[in-house]
Amino acid sequence: MRVLSGIQPTRRFHWGNYFGAIRQYIELQDGSEDAFYFIANLHALTTVRDPAQLREWTLDAAIDLLALGLDPDRATLFLQSDVPEVSELCWILLSGTPMGLLERCCAYKDKKAKGITADAGLFTYPVLMAADILAYDSDTVPVGEDQVQHIEVCRDLAASFNHHFGEVFVLPKAKLLDTSAKVPGTDGEKMSKSYGNTLELFEEPGPLKKQIMRITTDSRPMEEPKDPDTDHLFQLYSLFASDADRESMAATYRRGGFGYGEVKKALAEAAVDYFAAARQRRTDLAAHPRRVCEILSAGAIKARKKAAEVLRRAQKACGVRL
Ligand code: ADP
Ligand code: TRP
Repeated sequence: MRVLSGIQPTRRFHWGNYFGAIRQYIELQDGSEDAFYFIANLHALTTVRDPAQLREWTLDAAIDLLALGLDPDRATLFLQSDVPEVSELCWILLSGTPMGLLERCCAYKDKKAKGITADAGLFTYPVLMAADILAYDSDTVPVGEDQVQHIEVCRDLAASFNHHFGEVFVLPKAKLLDTSAKVPGTDGEKMSKSYGNTLELFEEPGPLKKQIMRITTDSRPMEEPKDPDTDHLFQLYSLFASDADRESMAATYRRGGFGYGEVKKALAEAAVDYFAAARQRRTDLAAHPRRVCEILSAGAIKARKKAAEVLRRAQKACGVRL
Protein backbone atom coordinates (compact mmCIF):
# COMPACT_ATOMS: atom_id res chain seq x y z
CA MET A 1 0.00 0.00 0.00
CA ARG A 2 1.43 3.35 -1.03
CA VAL A 3 0.52 6.48 0.86
CA LEU A 4 1.51 9.72 -0.85
CA SER A 5 1.09 13.40 -0.23
CA GLY A 6 2.62 16.67 -1.32
CA ILE A 7 3.01 19.97 0.42
CA GLN A 8 3.65 23.31 -1.25
CA PRO A 9 6.65 25.40 -0.18
CA THR A 10 4.78 28.69 -0.37
CA ARG A 11 5.77 30.01 3.07
CA ARG A 12 7.24 28.91 6.36
CA PHE A 13 4.95 26.39 8.07
CA HIS A 14 2.60 27.55 10.81
CA TRP A 15 0.91 25.78 13.74
CA GLY A 16 -2.19 25.09 11.59
CA ASN A 17 -0.09 23.29 8.95
CA TYR A 18 1.56 21.21 11.65
CA PHE A 19 -1.46 20.09 13.66
CA GLY A 20 -3.76 19.94 10.62
CA ALA A 21 -1.44 18.13 8.24
CA ILE A 22 2.28 17.59 8.87
CA ARG A 23 1.93 15.78 12.18
CA GLN A 24 -0.53 13.37 10.60
CA TYR A 25 1.69 12.71 7.57
CA ILE A 26 4.53 11.87 9.88
CA GLU A 27 2.37 9.51 11.90
CA LEU A 28 1.51 7.63 8.70
CA GLN A 29 5.15 6.73 8.09
CA ASP A 30 4.81 4.29 10.98
CA GLY A 31 1.98 2.29 9.41
CA SER A 32 2.62 -0.68 7.17
CA GLU A 33 2.32 1.64 4.16
CA ASP A 34 5.12 2.69 1.92
CA ALA A 35 5.04 6.46 2.46
CA PHE A 36 6.08 8.95 -0.23
CA TYR A 37 6.11 12.66 0.59
CA PHE A 38 7.22 15.38 -1.74
CA ILE A 39 7.63 19.11 -1.75
CA ALA A 40 5.39 20.46 -4.50
CA ASN A 41 7.71 23.13 -5.87
CA LEU A 42 6.21 22.98 -9.39
CA HIS A 43 2.81 23.76 -7.94
CA ALA A 44 4.36 26.57 -5.89
CA LEU A 45 5.64 28.10 -9.11
CA THR A 46 2.05 29.16 -9.87
CA THR A 47 2.28 31.62 -6.95
CA VAL A 48 5.93 32.12 -5.94
CA ARG A 49 7.65 34.06 -8.71
CA ASP A 50 10.87 34.94 -6.91
CA PRO A 51 13.48 32.21 -7.56
CA ALA A 52 15.60 32.91 -4.47
CA GLN A 53 12.48 32.82 -2.33
CA LEU A 54 11.29 29.57 -3.88
CA ARG A 55 14.68 27.94 -3.30
CA GLU A 56 14.73 29.14 0.29
CA TRP A 57 11.20 27.96 1.11
CA THR A 58 11.83 24.62 -0.61
CA LEU A 59 14.92 23.90 1.47
CA ASP A 60 13.13 25.20 4.57
CA ALA A 61 10.22 22.86 3.93
CA ALA A 62 12.56 19.86 3.67
CA ILE A 63 14.46 20.84 6.81
CA ASP A 64 11.24 21.46 8.74
CA LEU A 65 9.73 18.10 7.77
CA LEU A 66 12.90 16.23 8.75
CA ALA A 67 13.23 18.18 12.00
CA LEU A 68 9.62 17.40 12.87
CA GLY A 69 10.23 13.68 12.61
CA LEU A 70 9.88 12.65 8.98
CA ASP A 71 12.38 9.81 8.89
CA PRO A 72 14.07 9.11 5.54
CA ASP A 73 14.54 5.48 6.59
CA ARG A 74 10.81 5.02 6.97
CA ALA A 75 9.44 7.43 4.35
CA THR A 76 10.67 8.71 0.99
CA LEU A 77 11.06 12.48 0.82
CA PHE A 78 11.80 14.22 -2.47
CA LEU A 79 11.22 17.30 -4.59
CA GLN A 80 8.43 17.21 -7.14
CA SER A 81 10.70 18.75 -9.79
CA ASP A 82 13.30 15.98 -9.33
CA VAL A 83 10.92 13.51 -10.97
CA PRO A 84 10.53 14.74 -14.59
CA GLU A 85 8.46 11.63 -15.40
CA VAL A 86 5.60 13.33 -13.55
CA SER A 87 5.61 16.29 -15.94
CA GLU A 88 5.57 13.91 -18.91
CA LEU A 89 2.70 12.02 -17.43
CA CYS A 90 0.95 15.34 -16.84
CA TRP A 91 1.02 16.03 -20.58
CA ILE A 92 -0.38 12.62 -21.37
CA LEU A 93 -3.22 13.24 -18.93
CA LEU A 94 -3.84 16.80 -20.18
CA SER A 95 -4.69 15.41 -23.58
CA GLY A 96 -8.09 14.06 -22.76
CA THR A 97 -8.88 16.30 -19.80
CA PRO A 98 -12.19 18.10 -20.44
CA MET A 99 -11.87 21.90 -20.05
CA GLY A 100 -15.16 21.87 -18.13
CA LEU A 101 -13.73 19.59 -15.46
CA LEU A 102 -10.95 22.08 -14.72
CA GLU A 103 -13.27 25.09 -14.94
CA ARG A 104 -15.20 23.64 -12.01
CA CYS A 105 -12.11 23.30 -9.80
CA CYS A 106 -12.16 25.63 -6.81
CA ALA A 107 -8.62 27.02 -6.84
CA TYR A 108 -9.18 28.35 -10.36
CA LYS A 109 -12.86 29.26 -9.90
CA ASP A 110 -12.15 31.25 -6.71
CA LYS A 111 -9.34 33.23 -8.30
CA LYS A 112 -11.44 33.99 -11.34
CA ALA A 113 -14.36 35.07 -9.15
CA LYS A 114 -12.02 37.50 -7.39
CA GLY A 115 -11.09 38.97 -10.76
CA ILE A 116 -7.49 37.70 -10.55
CA THR A 117 -6.24 36.59 -13.95
CA ALA A 118 -5.23 32.96 -13.69
CA ASP A 119 -2.47 31.43 -15.77
CA ALA A 120 -2.54 28.05 -17.48
CA GLY A 121 -0.42 26.64 -14.62
CA LEU A 122 -3.15 27.36 -12.11
CA PHE A 123 -5.85 26.17 -14.50
CA THR A 124 -4.15 22.82 -15.09
CA TYR A 125 -2.91 22.49 -11.51
CA PRO A 126 -5.25 19.54 -10.74
CA VAL A 127 -3.83 17.57 -13.69
CA LEU A 128 -0.27 17.94 -12.42
CA MET A 129 -1.56 16.84 -9.03
CA ALA A 130 -3.21 13.82 -10.68
CA ALA A 131 0.11 12.97 -12.34
CA ASP A 132 1.85 13.28 -8.94
CA ILE A 133 -0.51 10.73 -7.50
CA LEU A 134 -0.80 8.29 -10.42
CA ALA A 135 2.94 8.20 -11.14
CA TYR A 136 3.56 6.19 -7.98
CA ASP A 137 0.55 3.84 -8.07
CA SER A 138 -0.62 5.60 -4.91
CA ASP A 139 -3.47 3.98 -3.01
CA THR A 140 -4.05 6.52 -0.26
CA VAL A 141 -3.63 10.27 -0.39
CA PRO A 142 -3.93 12.06 2.95
CA VAL A 143 -5.16 15.61 2.33
CA GLY A 144 -7.13 18.42 3.91
CA GLU A 145 -10.75 19.01 2.90
CA ASP A 146 -9.77 21.67 0.34
CA GLN A 147 -7.92 19.05 -1.72
CA VAL A 148 -10.61 16.38 -1.87
CA GLN A 149 -12.00 17.80 -5.11
CA HIS A 150 -8.59 17.38 -6.72
CA ILE A 151 -8.46 13.71 -5.74
CA GLU A 152 -11.86 13.28 -7.40
CA VAL A 153 -10.45 14.87 -10.58
CA CYS A 154 -7.51 12.48 -10.37
CA ARG A 155 -9.83 9.48 -10.07
CA ASP A 156 -11.93 10.73 -13.01
CA LEU A 157 -8.87 11.18 -15.23
CA ALA A 158 -7.43 7.79 -14.24
CA ALA A 159 -10.73 5.99 -14.78
CA SER A 160 -11.26 7.61 -18.16
CA PHE A 161 -7.69 6.79 -19.28
CA ASN A 162 -8.10 3.19 -18.11
CA HIS A 163 -11.43 2.95 -19.91
CA HIS A 164 -9.92 4.20 -23.16
CA PHE A 165 -6.47 2.58 -23.10
CA GLY A 166 -6.71 -0.34 -20.69
CA GLU A 167 -5.90 -0.77 -17.00
CA VAL A 168 -2.85 1.42 -16.44
CA PHE A 169 -3.53 3.49 -13.35
CA VAL A 170 -4.37 2.58 -9.78
CA LEU A 171 -7.38 4.60 -8.59
CA PRO A 172 -6.36 6.39 -5.38
CA LYS A 173 -8.51 7.17 -2.36
CA ALA A 174 -8.39 10.40 -0.39
CA LYS A 175 -7.80 10.01 3.32
CA LEU A 176 -9.28 13.05 4.94
CA LEU A 177 -6.94 14.46 7.56
CA ASP A 178 -8.46 15.10 10.93
CA THR A 179 -9.16 18.79 10.87
CA SER A 180 -11.81 18.56 13.56
CA ALA A 181 -9.67 20.87 15.63
CA LYS A 182 -9.07 23.76 13.24
CA VAL A 183 -6.20 25.72 14.67
CA PRO A 184 -7.26 29.32 15.34
CA GLY A 185 -4.98 32.21 14.44
CA THR A 186 -3.97 35.21 16.51
CA ASP A 187 -7.30 36.91 15.73
CA GLY A 188 -9.45 33.88 16.58
CA GLU A 189 -10.26 33.11 12.92
CA LYS A 190 -8.82 29.96 11.25
CA MET A 191 -5.04 30.25 11.17
CA SER A 192 -4.04 30.80 7.55
CA LYS A 193 -1.21 32.48 5.71
CA SER A 194 -3.80 34.36 3.65
CA TYR A 195 -5.23 35.99 6.80
CA GLY A 196 -1.88 37.13 8.21
CA ASN A 197 -2.77 35.61 11.60
CA THR A 198 -0.22 32.80 11.76
CA LEU A 199 2.26 31.68 14.38
CA GLU A 200 5.19 30.00 12.71
CA LEU A 201 6.47 26.63 13.87
CA PHE A 202 10.08 27.64 14.19
CA GLU A 203 9.69 31.26 15.18
CA GLU A 204 12.41 32.26 17.66
CA PRO A 205 11.14 32.10 21.28
CA GLY A 206 11.51 35.88 21.83
CA PRO A 207 9.45 37.09 18.85
CA LEU A 208 7.02 34.18 19.35
CA LYS A 209 6.27 35.34 22.90
CA LYS A 210 5.63 38.86 21.60
CA GLN A 211 3.24 37.55 18.94
CA ILE A 212 1.42 35.43 21.50
CA MET A 213 1.02 38.43 23.82
CA ARG A 214 -0.75 40.20 20.92
CA ILE A 215 -3.37 37.46 20.42
CA THR A 216 -6.79 39.15 20.53
CA THR A 217 -8.91 38.50 23.61
CA ASP A 218 -12.22 39.88 24.84
CA SER A 219 -12.51 42.63 27.43
CA ARG A 220 -14.62 40.87 30.04
CA PRO A 221 -13.56 41.55 33.64
CA MET A 222 -10.99 39.20 35.18
CA GLU A 223 -13.37 37.95 37.88
CA GLU A 224 -15.95 36.68 35.43
CA PRO A 225 -16.01 32.88 34.94
CA LYS A 226 -15.39 31.94 31.30
CA ASP A 227 -16.15 28.98 29.04
CA PRO A 228 -12.83 27.46 27.92
CA ASP A 229 -14.43 25.58 25.03
CA THR A 230 -15.30 28.73 23.10
CA ASP A 231 -12.04 30.55 23.73
CA HIS A 232 -9.37 30.50 21.00
CA LEU A 233 -6.55 31.15 23.47
CA PHE A 234 -7.58 28.04 25.39
CA GLN A 235 -7.81 26.07 22.12
CA LEU A 236 -4.26 27.08 21.28
CA TYR A 237 -3.03 26.19 24.77
CA SER A 238 -4.72 22.79 24.45
CA LEU A 239 -2.58 21.94 21.42
CA PHE A 240 0.51 21.83 23.58
CA ALA A 241 -0.60 21.15 27.16
CA SER A 242 -0.68 17.75 28.84
CA ASP A 243 -4.16 16.46 29.74
CA ALA A 244 -3.62 17.42 33.37
CA ASP A 245 -2.48 20.96 32.52
CA ARG A 246 -5.38 21.41 30.11
CA GLU A 247 -7.87 20.29 32.78
CA SER A 248 -6.36 22.60 35.33
CA MET A 249 -6.45 25.55 32.89
CA ALA A 250 -10.09 24.73 32.03
CA ALA A 251 -10.93 24.81 35.75
CA THR A 252 -9.24 28.22 36.04
CA TYR A 253 -11.40 29.52 33.18
CA ARG A 254 -14.60 28.25 34.78
CA ARG A 255 -13.64 29.74 38.15
CA GLY A 256 -12.72 33.16 36.75
CA GLY A 257 -10.36 35.52 38.52
CA PHE A 258 -7.47 35.19 36.06
CA GLY A 259 -5.97 37.42 33.37
CA TYR A 260 -5.52 36.42 29.73
CA GLY A 261 -1.90 37.54 30.11
CA GLU A 262 -1.25 34.53 32.38
CA VAL A 263 -2.76 32.17 29.81
CA LYS A 264 -0.62 33.71 27.08
CA LYS A 265 2.49 33.25 29.19
CA ALA A 266 1.60 29.60 29.81
CA LEU A 267 0.87 29.14 26.08
CA ALA A 268 4.23 30.64 25.06
CA GLU A 269 6.11 28.37 27.49
CA ALA A 270 4.20 25.27 26.44
CA ALA A 271 4.72 25.99 22.71
CA VAL A 272 8.44 26.65 23.10
CA ASP A 273 8.85 23.41 25.10
CA TYR A 274 6.78 21.41 22.65
CA PHE A 275 8.96 22.28 19.67
CA ALA A 276 12.28 22.45 21.56
CA ALA A 277 13.64 19.08 20.38
CA ALA A 278 12.51 19.71 16.78
CA ARG A 279 14.07 23.19 16.92
CA GLN A 280 17.39 21.64 17.96
CA ARG A 281 17.22 19.12 15.11
CA ARG A 282 16.31 21.96 12.76
CA THR A 283 19.38 23.95 13.81
CA ASP A 284 21.60 20.91 13.17
CA LEU A 285 20.05 20.22 9.76
CA ALA A 286 20.19 23.88 8.69
CA ALA A 287 23.93 23.82 9.41
CA HIS A 288 24.30 20.87 6.99
CA PRO A 289 22.20 21.71 3.93
CA ARG A 290 24.24 19.26 1.85
CA ARG A 291 23.01 16.41 4.04
CA VAL A 292 19.43 17.55 3.41
CA CYS A 293 20.06 17.67 -0.35
CA GLU A 294 21.47 14.14 -0.19
CA ILE A 295 18.32 12.90 1.52
CA LEU A 296 16.21 14.58 -1.19
CA SER A 297 18.36 13.08 -3.97
CA ALA A 298 18.14 9.59 -2.50
CA GLY A 299 14.37 10.04 -2.24
CA ALA A 300 14.17 11.20 -5.84
CA ILE A 301 16.08 8.15 -7.09
CA LYS A 302 13.59 5.85 -5.39
CA ALA A 303 10.60 7.91 -6.57
CA ARG A 304 11.87 8.11 -10.16
CA LYS A 305 12.28 4.36 -10.37
CA LYS A 306 8.59 3.89 -9.66
CA ALA A 307 7.47 6.86 -11.80
CA ALA A 308 9.49 5.64 -14.80
CA GLU A 309 7.76 2.26 -14.59
CA VAL A 310 4.28 3.84 -14.49
CA LEU A 311 5.11 6.36 -17.24
CA ARG A 312 6.30 3.54 -19.50
CA ARG A 313 3.04 1.71 -18.90
CA ALA A 314 1.02 4.84 -19.79
CA GLN A 315 3.17 5.64 -22.86
CA LYS A 316 2.79 2.12 -24.21
CA ALA A 317 -0.93 2.10 -23.59
CA CYS A 318 -1.60 5.37 -25.43
CA GLY A 319 0.80 4.71 -28.30
CA VAL A 320 3.61 7.22 -27.76
CA ARG A 321 6.13 4.45 -27.02
CA LEU A 322 6.78 1.94 -29.77
P1 ADP B 1 -2.91 28.18 4.51
O1 ADP B 1 -4.38 28.17 4.90
O2 ADP B 1 -2.06 28.85 5.51
O3 ADP B 1 -2.72 28.66 3.09
P2 ADP B 1 -2.44 25.63 3.33
O4 ADP B 1 -3.72 25.72 2.57
O5 ADP B 1 -1.13 25.71 2.60
O6 ADP B 1 -2.46 26.68 4.53
O7 ADP B 1 -2.50 24.29 4.19
C1 ADP B 1 -1.67 23.17 4.08
C2 ADP B 1 -2.25 22.10 4.99
O8 ADP B 1 -2.35 22.57 6.35
C3 ADP B 1 -3.67 21.68 4.58
O9 ADP B 1 -3.74 20.27 4.60
C4 ADP B 1 -4.58 22.28 5.62
O10 ADP B 1 -5.69 21.45 5.86
C5 ADP B 1 -3.69 22.40 6.85
N1 ADP B 1 -4.07 23.60 7.61
C6 ADP B 1 -3.80 24.88 7.27
N2 ADP B 1 -4.29 25.75 8.19
C7 ADP B 1 -4.89 24.99 9.15
C8 ADP B 1 -5.56 25.30 10.37
N3 ADP B 1 -5.71 26.54 10.79
N4 ADP B 1 -6.04 24.27 11.12
C9 ADP B 1 -5.87 22.99 10.71
N5 ADP B 1 -5.23 22.64 9.57
C10 ADP B 1 -4.75 23.61 8.78
N1 TRP C 1 -2.23 20.67 -4.01
C1 TRP C 1 -1.72 20.29 -2.72
C2 TRP C 1 -1.88 21.46 -1.72
O1 TRP C 1 -1.93 22.60 -2.13
C3 TRP C 1 -0.29 19.89 -2.81
C4 TRP C 1 -0.12 18.72 -3.72
C5 TRP C 1 0.44 18.72 -4.97
C6 TRP C 1 -0.54 17.37 -3.44
N2 TRP C 1 0.41 17.46 -5.48
C7 TRP C 1 -0.18 16.61 -4.60
C8 TRP C 1 -1.17 16.77 -2.36
C9 TRP C 1 -0.48 15.25 -4.67
C10 TRP C 1 -1.45 15.41 -2.46
C11 TRP C 1 -1.10 14.66 -3.58
O2 TRP C 1 -1.92 21.24 -0.53
